[in-house]
Amino acid sequence: MVCIRQATIDDLLAMQACNLMCLPENYQMKYYFYHMLSWPQLLFVAEDYGGRIVGYVLAKMEEDPSEPCHGHITSLAVLRSHRKLGLATKLMSAAQAAMDQVFGAEYVSLHVRRSNRAAFNLYTSTLGYQIHDIEAKYYADGEDAYDMRKMLRQPQPKKHHHHHHGGGCCSHDAPPAAAGSSPTSTSPEKKADT
Ligand SMILES: CC(C)(COP(=O)(O)OP(=O)(O)OC[C@H]1O[C@@H](n2cnc3c(N)ncnc32)[C@H](O)[C@@H]1OP(=O)(O)O)[C@@H](O)C(=O)NCCC(=O)NCCS
Repeated sequence: MVCIRQATIDDLLAMQACNLMCLPENYQMKYYFYHMLSWPQLLFVAEDYGGRIVGYVLAKMEEDPSEPCHGHITSLAVLRSHRKLGLATKLMSAAQAAMDQVFGAEYVSLHVRRSNRAAFNLYTSTLGYQIHDIEAKYYADGEDAYDMRKMLRQPQPKKHHHHHHGGGCCSHDAPPAAAGSSPTSTSPEKKADT
């Protein structure tokens, strides 16, 4: 039995280990902490009966106010021994649901290598993502990325900003300023997500 649950701080090392075993795009531990401290609702792990982390999804909310409120999948992986069991589908569904329910995300975006057939099939056939753009030489080794998107809800009309408004799109408990960092300052690996 494998269960899907929200990740905790104590899972971050195991998530990093899983990432190192599965993907060439790797991150410093501070980047995992940045996600966990900013959007704890968006990190999920697959844990086997022995307590071993066999898969994870690392996700975040994009904070560019010029774009509609949307989430982004930073990284997803499942250990080779546990693939084709539906775990990635469940991890992705959990992160997408939290983006929708907690943050009111309009859509979710991600990058995938053109050659990554397993992930491409997962995103398109199983999860309903569509190609939004192609980013030439996105990855460090020169491979192109598909920039993919999945709509989570109808686009919202643009809101005027009122000083008193505390809720609404992308409002959450820990505003970016409180996290003490911006994606650019804490993610030198920006061009290296999934
Ligand atoms: C991509 C990955 C996360 C899929 O994980 P998974 O748990 O095996 O995926 P699921 O079992 O949920 O598969 C769902 C669908 O994905 C597609 N898929 C998964 N593995 C596939 C493969 N080897 N070949 C073709 N399609 C595949 C299928 O459409 C599958 O649906 P089906 O089982 O009905 O055929 C996993 O292969 C992995 O960790 N790969 C290395 C890391 C990686 O590429 N991460 C994504 C970076 S963008």
